[in-house]
Amino acid sequence: MLGLPQSDELVFFVNGRKVIERNADPEVTLLTFLRKNLGLTGTKYACGRGSCGACTVMVSKCDPVSKKIRHFSITACLVPICSLYGAAVTTVEGVGSIKTKLHPVQERIAKSHGTQCGFCTPGMVMSMYTLLRNHPQPSEEQLMEALGGNLCRCTGYRPILESGKTFCMESNGCQQKGAGGCCLAQGEEDSSSLCRSTDISTELFAKDEFQPLDPTQELIFPPELLRLAENPEERTLTFHGERVTWISPGTLKDLLELKVKHPEAPLVLGNTSLGPAMKSQGHVHPILLSPVRISELSMVSTTSEGLTIGAGCSLAQVKDILAERVSELPEEKTQTYRALLKHLKSLAGQQIRNMASLGGHIISRHCYSDLNPILAVGNATLNLISAGGARQVPLSEHFLAGLASADLRPEEVLESVHIPHSQKGELVSAFRQAQCQHNAWAHVNAGMRVLLKEGTDTIEDLSIAFGGLGAATVSARQSCQQLRGRRWNELMLDEACRLLLDEVSLPGSAPGGRVEFKRTLVVSFLFKFYLQVLQTLKPLAERPSAPDGLRYPDVSDPFLSGLEDLSVTVPQGVQRYQSVDSRQPLQDPVGRPIMHLSGLKHATGEAMFCDDIPRVEKELFMALVTSTRAHAKIISIDLSKALELPGVVDVITAEDIPGTNGTEDEKLLAVDEVLCVGQIICAVAAETDVQAKRAIEEIKITYEDLEPVIVTIEDAIKHNSFLCPEKKLEQGNIEEAFEKVDQIVEGEVHVGGQEHFYMETQRVLVIPKTEDNELDIYVSTQDPAHVQKTVSSTLNIPSNRITCHVKRVGGGFGGKVGKSAVFGAIAAVGAIKTGHPVRLVLDREDDMLITGGRHPLFGKYKVGFMNNGRIKALDIECFINGGCTLDDSEQVTEFLVLKLENAYKIRNLRFRGRACMTNLPSNTAFRGYGFPQGTLVTESCITAVAAKCGLLPEKVREKNMYKTVDKTIYKQAFSPENLIRCWDECLDKSSFGSRRKQVEAFNKKNYWKKKGLAIIPMKFSVGFGATSYHQAAALVHIYTDGSVLVTHGGNELGQGIHTKMLQVASRELKIPMSYMHICETSTATVPNTIATAASIGSDVNGRAVQNACQILLKRLEPIIKKNPEGSWENWIEAAFEQRISLSATGYFRGYKAFMDWEKGEGDPFPYYVYGAACSEVEIDCLTGAHKKIRTDIVMDACCSLNPAIDIGQVEGAFIQGMGLYTTEELKYSPEGVLYSRGPDDYKIPTITDVPEEFNVSLLPASQTPVNIYSSKGLGESGMFLGSSVFFAITDAVAAARRERDIAEDFTVESPATPEWVRMACADRFTEMIPRDDPKTFRPWSIPIA
Ligand SMILES: Cc1cc2nc3c(=O)[nH]c(=O)nc-3n(C[C@H](O)[C@H](O)[C@H](O)COP(=O)(O)OP(=O)(O)OC[C@H]3O[C@@H](n4cnc5c(N)ncnc54)[C@H](O)[C@@H]3O)c2cc1C
Ligand code: FES
Ligand code: FES
Repeated sequence: MLGLPQSDELVFFVNGRKVIERNADPEVTLLTFLRKNLGLTGTKYACGRGSCGACTVMVSKCDPVSKKIRHFSITACLVPICSLYGAAVTTVEGVGSIKTKLHPVQERIAKSHGTQCGFCTPGMVMSMYTLLRNHPQPSEEQLMEALGGNLCRCTGYRPILESGKTFCMESNGCQQKGAGGCCLAQGEEDSSSLCRSTDISTELFAKDEFQPLDPTQELIFPPELLRLAENPEERTLTFHGERVTWISPGTLKDLLELKVKHPEAPLVLGNTSLGPAMKSQGHVHPILLSPVRISELSMVSTTSEGLTIGAGCSLAQVKDILAERVSELPEEKTQTYRALLKHLKSLAGQQIRNMASLGGHIISRHCYSDLNPILAVGNATLNLISAGGARQVPLSEHFLAGLASADLRPEEVLESVHIPHSQKGELVSAFRQAQCQHNAWAHVNAGMRVLLKEGTDTIEDLSIAFGGLGAATVSARQSCQQLRGRRWNELMLDEACRLLLDEVSLPGSAPGGRVEFKRTLVVSFLFKFYLQVLQTLKPLAERPSAPDGLRYPDVSDPFLSGLEDLSVTVPQGVQRYQSVDSRQPLQDPVGRPIMHLSGLKHATGEAMFCDDIPRVEKELFMALVTSTRAHAKIISIDLSKALELPGVVDVITAEDIPGTNGTEDEKLLAVDEVLCVGQIICAVAAETDVQAKRAIEEIKITYEDLEPVIVTIEDAIKHNSFLCPEKKLEQGNIEEAFEKVDQIVEGEVHVGGQEHFYMETQRVLVIPKTEDNELDIYVSTQDPAHVQKTVSSTLNIPSNRITCHVKRVGGGFGGKVGKSAVFGAIAAVGAIKTGHPVRLVLDREDDMLITGGRHPLFGKYKVGFMNNGRIKALDIECFINGGCTLDDSEQVTEFLVLKLENAYKIRNLRFRGRACMTNLPSNTAFRGYGFPQGTLVTESCITAVAAKCGLLPEKVREKNMYKTVDKTIYKQAFSPENLIRCWDECLDKSSFGSRRKQVEAFNKKNYWKKKGLAIIPMKFSVGFGATSYHQAAALVHIYTDGSVLVTHGGNELGQGIHTKMLQVASRELKIPMSYMHICETSTATVPNTIATAASIGSDVNGRAVQNACQILLKRLEPIIKKNPEGSWENWIEAAFEQRISLSATGYFRGYKAFMDWEKGEGDPFPYYVYGAACSEVEIDCLTGAHKKIRTDIVMDACCSLNPAIDIGQVEGAFIQGMGLYTTEELKYSPEGVLYSRGPDDYKIPTITDVPEEFNVSLLPASQTPVNIYSSKGLGESGMFLGSSVFFAITDAVAAARRERDIAEDFTVESPATPEWVRMACADRFTEMIPRDDPKTFRPWSIPIA
């Protein structure tokens, strides 16, 4: 840091070791520091915005006021290192390690199968570890709360939660849980058919093997820091960075003086608002003032009037303080505190609540602030202080609107917030509705307070404030004023709704969209408040002393269902699978729930992912420049400014590509024209990531917009814009059949796209070697051979010089099949041009922008059926939004059409599919490959038929299902026996019949809440449609010490393929897995591999490994025969002596896939996986929220190779599918710009989304398919079963619509978001909102399906 003024020393501790940083840069986050400076790569980057928890670490600090040590979890990506002066940081490496000692949290998460790809695991471990530091025996609710801010894209959370529960008070005795009890207590049926049966097991891990938790063994708080806290330094600390200076005063006086000197300088507390804003807006504050050491800002005081909380208190502390007051004071005084508490439970994740300060929250004045509306209606006051003195300002609408007269002056600081007690007769309530219940910003939230004149129903005072409707919290002051003096009755409610809709009006083009939904929420929340007030007043009116004439409108029981919000409870469940035959040798691991090979390494952070590879000498970092236009000519690219920046080595453009620039259809780097926002144009290579990212901002590209810009499927159809010819299958005579049916229904289904959201973004490290143009490529991919091939053609270097290495992948889900080759090739061009190693790690925003995902789908159906529900003719036409290039769209269309029939035998069918070309990033492979979208159309058809016939959907499903050995629409023979078994067992296990009755009874009693129930069958074909993809190879070496190195063509994506492969090798070689090792997947050891995808990775590679092992064993046979009592080591030694090769290649020539599209016939798939899922939900018709009450899945795994892994795949895929169908919503502008580029605005399921009861059974084996040891590949199929939640939601919506006398046949839209649910449950409130003429405004976002 040459030329910078002298900085103070930054002193903090990491894992018990003292860190002294003499040149601390305020712009460096703890995450960067840990990973780059300390080489502690266990802490992961996955979003950089505090929203995913992958970077969770524990911070311990001695509280300046209480002098107690506080341990709390934080997200390291948002913490500037300068804020850590005097703190102790514990990372996953500090908790335990395989080399020294595992911590019980690490051991249990791994052994409970809570890790798949393992990328989220260190964060999970740290959240749990922090919880246990504070509560060695937490409650299950505390556990849920602690994990609420950690995302996992693989596991579906159940096993993670399960591991945590082993520490909880409630967890004792039987593993089979079920509300804490043993499965034997779950009813006779269950216990007789399962638990007493000897071959069905419900134990996936042995709890009694776990080490106990011993809190005395934890790292102690460094005594040096304790001494520092006891005698706090008062001097101001200053840290100078290149662009930013961090000043941390030790006293309030100094802070205030600094504020006079630097009035523009923001205060940094949690940095949860400033940090993300600086990142997304690229804004730099030259000076940051950090008041963390100022105890006045952490003071809490109580008086008889209320509570004063220091502005520096974290939201987690505020929660505890409020909870304490609520427990001490009478209810009437704590109305505001209770309302705040309600929102503090769901506001962000635990880590953010630990970091974010009350002051920062209030001053940020975010429009979505959950607390400001309540503080505003609760008449909170802000205590401001400056060098000139102190003053109070009300937290009023004027303050919230940022009016200068009501705001802080530049030199002022918010010292504390006073929140008065509520008074007698006052009711304060809080409301919020977000995409999901927890850890999501509210679409709309509200605080409402009413004071009624004592003993009357007359409004004395009323305050209402809303969030989410404007630039900041908005107050409905005028409406409230006009309502004063009115009586609390229906007339008042109607008038209030009208006034509110007028006052807090929202234009049709409002940013954030969802305009009609938001308007509806305004009045729906008011109605909820209206009910709540009536409910609290009712007992008063019933008192004998009530004044004459005091009567409140009577609310009948069904309408009271509008009162309560849907709660979140801790999920429970049972997993059942067939245990291995008792005669199977103990050494043979096949069929046993073996822990993921990398489980412990995931849990300790020792598992290396691509970007964990230490920096190599002369390495450069690459950042990508992407198009900001959807369709334009590139007029010029000006690189000059970027090239002048320090550290920038080069900019790579299409001209630098020595070989081929992608394909004609899909260029690696754009030439002359761009086809979508996010298309890669060029790439900067610089010495550091920061320099590379700064440089891309300086590259100026001029465009000339071109027409047309096609974004939606509708537009594509209009412009006849398609990527490939139509795919069509037909059977029977559809036209004739339509003439003979009782009824015909036509409908439309729209299914939105899906982002892969693998936790590890796309990354690659290319290392050019000095000789012969050789390159080593370390890449996170599902298809290293494709990366190798692409790099080869891009560089014009033969494949034999290029070695791709894949150690493990932090989730792929199809997104790393094709796309990773693009990044590998661009990085390789950079490496060749500069002669340096090049590392390319995509930010989450860029990953989401550039890579595309699941194809959105628009389906039209026409179905002809008899009145008894028998479907005679079905005509489905689907269009998928393929984006701007072909990618996998043609194959996805084919699979879609092939699989549309799902589980149904319908004699007359016509299925057509077409991939639309639009100006969006190209969509690609995604788990299920068209099946989850297409089959939603088929199942929606069935639901529509049921509605028309007045039958239950499950009856219509059953009636039309395949029953006997038959042929599919493409004439492939199959037996549906296991389909029927899954269906029957699922009906039985879920007690479907009796629960259907209960749901109906519930719905009769509740007007504003409805339950829905659905059971969905599944016939899923695995495999690729091309024969060349059904092959695999393996290479097995036995070393002279007896150890075995297995290599095969599959990549470890989290699906446990390496574990399964060693299980296979162990059975074949008849030695324990402990003899074996898999190092990586590499193109140098196993060439010409196929992508690890289509659910067949273990099938084909397993056979190759088996083949190699059998070859080896055959070679060893004579030696074994000669010395049958010898040990493995003896035999290997002897074999070596006798010059027997101890290395073998295994090969599997797999299925011959065949499909003749002309004839519509073929055998495209090796086999089918069958399954069924039943889900029950409850919806809140007033807000659109839903909760998942229960899911039962029965899946046909045949003879599972590893039931723990397979159940993990089923559960993980199910939860991912649930996300697709309920909360994951990609938002695009009409110009084709993707808005949702991170976990803040794209909501994948969190732990609170897991069904309250979640049971999974693997169907006991019966049939023997073509596969290794009769197992089946379960990677993708569970995804579609997530639709059972979707259909349960639509079932509930249909119940609401029936009751309201509205037509049941609504357009089906997925995801069934709160917005969709609320607007579908039309009522007097949806009717009263203003509707804009679509022609009069340009919407903020448009649906692309
Ligand atoms: C992942 C994530 C999820 C979130 N989810 C939600 C949610 O669901 N609901 C919700 O309401 N909020 C949510 N938030 C927002 C969060 O509540 C705020 O970011 C947070 O409260 C800001 O506090 P901070 O201490 O981090 O502020 P900082 O970022 O440190 O500071 C923010 C601003 O406040 C000013 N400031 C801070 N303290 C003072 C003071 N004492 N005097 C004067 N000025 C001061 C600073 O100058 C700065 O301009 C979320 C944030 C993140 C990152
Ligand atoms: S929360 Fe830090 S990387 Fe996501
Ligand atoms: S295991 Fe959690 S993200 Fe992969």
